[in-house]
Amino acid sequence: MLVAGNWKMHTDLARATALAAEVAAAAGGAGGVDVAVCPPFVSLEAVGNVLEGTAVRLGAQNVHENDEGAYTGEVSAPMLVSVGCHYVIVGHSERRQLFGETDEDVNQKTLTALRHGLVPIVCVGETLEEREDDRAKSVVSRQVMEALEWAEVDAADRLVVAYEPVWAIGTGKTATPAQAQEMHAMIRDRLEQTLGPLGREIDILYGGSVKPNNAAELFAQPDIDGGLIGGASLDVEALLAIVGAAR
Ligand code: PGA
Repeated sequence: MLVAGNWKMHTDLARATALAAEVAAAAGGAGGVDVAVCPPFVSLEAVGNVLEGTAVRLGAQNVHENDEGAYTGEVSAPMLVSVGCHYVIVGHSERRQLFGETDEDVNQKTLTALRHGLVPIVCVGETLEEREDDRAKSVVSRQVMEALEWAEVDAADRLVVAYEPVWAIGTGKTATPAQAQEMHAMIRDRLEQTLGPLGREIDILYGGSVKPNNAAELFAQPDIDGGLIGGASLDVEALLAIVGAAR
């Protein structure tokens, strides 16, 4: 089980380090549950220092596919590794929708992260329109298959997938446990199809308005291996309650 907090474009340096310290103090050795926080780029190093020696791991929210070069404003995988990142979120729906990231970009970023020893948390999920058109499964299936294209099976055991229906992110609407489980089972099949038996070992997180009051029911589903938490991860008590539910 993994519970990862995605702080998005929230928290300045002081808030990020304080929040990280609170999470680390309370979540330390979270009984079989891995815990991670993903602060904004500018706070990664400082948060990494706060987390050093604790059980909470550091993640970034995005990565560029190239290792270096003239890409003003971008951050590379070696840079993330150099400040102690373990995870990196790839292809979050906000990146896809607001910043035009394509399945091909997500694929490149996933391969780059794996090549540098980072654990990519690859996000997939359908929009409301796609769900209403009965295209949710085909969209998510395509996103998973394209993200993993060319991935070497040996390296891919470090992969994490997050199913985040776009209509559930930041809206207070959550997929029902049955809706989420149905999609997670399909994703599990696709992972097995692409990666063989290893596909069964990969953690598939659910994301989209996970809160203390719905986490336990979601995490009890057989193919839900944890959560990617946005809003609730900015509130230490809520995040810890979600970690508790994952236990
Ligand atoms: P939310 O965000 O928990 O605020 O819905 C989840 C996410 O975007 O990863």
